[in-house]
Amino acid sequence: MCGIFGIVTRDDQPMGDTLLGAARRLSYRGYDSVGAATIDGGKRIDLRKDVGKVDDVAPRLGLSEMIGRRGIVQLRWATFGAPSQVNAQPHLDSDGDMVGAHNGNVVNNVALRQEFMAEGLTVRSTNDGESCVHAVERYVNQGLDMVEAIRRAYHVLEGDYAFVIASVHDERLYAFKKGSGLVVGLGGDFTCCSSDLPSLLPLTNRIVRLRDGEIVVMEPDGVSLWSVANGARIDRDPEVFTQGMDAAVKGGYPHFMLKEIHEQPDVARELLHLFDASKHVDVMTAAMQSANRLYYVGCGTSYHAGIVGSVYAARLAGRSAVPVLAPQFVAQFGPTLTKDDAVVFVSQSGETKDVLNALDVAERAGARCMGLVNVLGSTLAHRSRPYLPLACGYEISVPATKTFLNQVLAFLYLAMRMGGHDTKVLHGVPDLIEHTIATAAPQVDRILPDVNHRNDLYTLGYGLTYGIALEGALKLKEITYAHCEGMLSTEFKHGPLSAVDDGYPVVFVVGPDDVPLLISAINEVTVRGGRAIAIAEPDSRLTGNAHDVVALPVGGPLLNPILATIPLQLLSYRMSVARGHDPDFPRNLSKTLTVD
Ligand code: AGP
Repeated sequence: MCGIFGIVTRDDQPMGDTLLGAARRLSYRGYDSVGAATIDGGKRIDLRKDVGKVDDVAPRLGLSEMIGRRGIVQLRWATFGAPSQVNAQPHLDSDGDMVGAHNGNVVNNVALRQEFMAEGLTVRSTNDGESCVHAVERYVNQGLDMVEAIRRAYHVLEGDYAFVIASVHDERLYAFKKGSGLVVGLGGDFTCCSSDLPSLLPLTNRIVRLRDGEIVVMEPDGVSLWSVANGARIDRDPEVFTQGMDAAVKGGYPHFMLKEIHEQPDVARELLHLFDASKHVDVMTAAMQSANRLYYVGCGTSYHAGIVGSVYAARLAGRSAVPVLAPQFVAQFGPTLTKDDAVVFVSQSGETKDVLNALDVAERAGARCMGLVNVLGSTLAHRSRPYLPLACGYEISVPATKTFLNQVLAFLYLAMRMGGHDTKVLHGVPDLIEHTIATAAPQVDRILPDVNHRNDLYTLGYGLTYGIALEGALKLKEITYAHCEGMLSTEFKHGPLSAVDDGYPVVFVVGPDDVPLLISAINEVTVRGGRAIAIAEPDSRLTGNAHDVVALPVGGPLLNPILATIPLQLLSYRMSVARGHDPDFPRNLSKTLTVD
């Protein structure tokens, strides 16, 4: 969801491939337009941008041939202004002396555009990134230097965003951060900045992380940081990161999603090693236990992990934890939140705006804010006290797979520790996951013809498998574009049962303790002509009642949710590919949702 990258070097040089490389690394965030600008030593700005994907726009506009000593590239995911050439970023100021691009949302964009036009500035688009440029231009026109102009602009531009801008009147690149991620990389003879850390790592591992309310002035041999609040200089040493981008290749798999599904045994192993050695686990479980009220807050897939996690907490530690979608948390629990409460925010990206909004509310109430986060260096990781990493490495595919499994495993681990159980028993989980992937794939292929032609289906679960059913449904609708609803199995008879007709597919995710209850629900479907598919440990009661059973390895009730996730991932993947879709980059969706 929008990504910016900027670089400043000493001399004019071919800049196109560097900008395109950064754009490709940011493309997992989802976008509809691409644009790049370079400035050379002759103070000429070369701006090229259009609607489309990098591999389509780049050859059309010759982006790889761009030359300069400063460069900006932006991927735009449309919110303010339709996807169009004129709304694509970067944007020029009125007389073409400055060029800039942003990531995020300027929520008072409409009013600002009116002001800028009334002041005689040339407004060309309806995009809020252009408002960022004019906001700086306005104060430069009043005689302020760039840093002062940016400080003023910061207060005028409402919303959450990060912004990078360059002027032909000096040799620097300027950027500031207000809500959206922005990291700076120091290369020795170049300096760059980007919306995320992984996109910088192939260029340099010396990183300065910006905080909200900070301006960075970038020159080829270093940076200076300035406070928006008081204009004072900020000292911050760079951090050195060792993580690389090697993981961001498909490794022989046709799609990142399949690769990431197959990485699940390894990342589960990694998570367990990490948690076993982490002192933060004790800190976190102590805070979870002593809190007056405990909430698990996330969105989409991450929320579903919280639902499973809350059942683990109740069963294993007798601890009530309320799983809640982040925006609903604000509305429903925000007003009653106190400093005695604790919140575990769970997010793959650590940048989901809905989650960060909820974090703002919890922080303001003084609640203990902790995190389960995959992307190191993300805003949530930075603001959590403490956070535990999900240890999945890069998850490129838009549908979350390995991060979900590790979120559930992390919640299980935390619940066991809260309840005083020995987590060593979890060390068998990675092998069980591996076994499940191997055995589920052919079983899923067998049921594919029964479901793939349907555009409407249900996934049902109960107790520990309720969240898994919701997650399975999300995965199916996300990448197959079929309507699939996840539901508590007992609710099906309260309405949706009326949809069942001949061959109507209903997938039951059945925990070993819940077989009798689910058998009733299965029969309610089959006697009406529906096709009941059970995902469960082998059980003759299920084979006698459902049409198909996808058999899982025997892991017991606690591990069953983790293993049952895998056939649903594989089913959605196979259906998506069979329908001719790209499961990695489903239409209309973005990996990182940094807007409200
Ligand atoms: C899951 O496949 C989706 N990509 C989506 O629901 C995602 O889980 C949600 O947007 C939350 O993202 P986060 O975990 O990065 O906060």
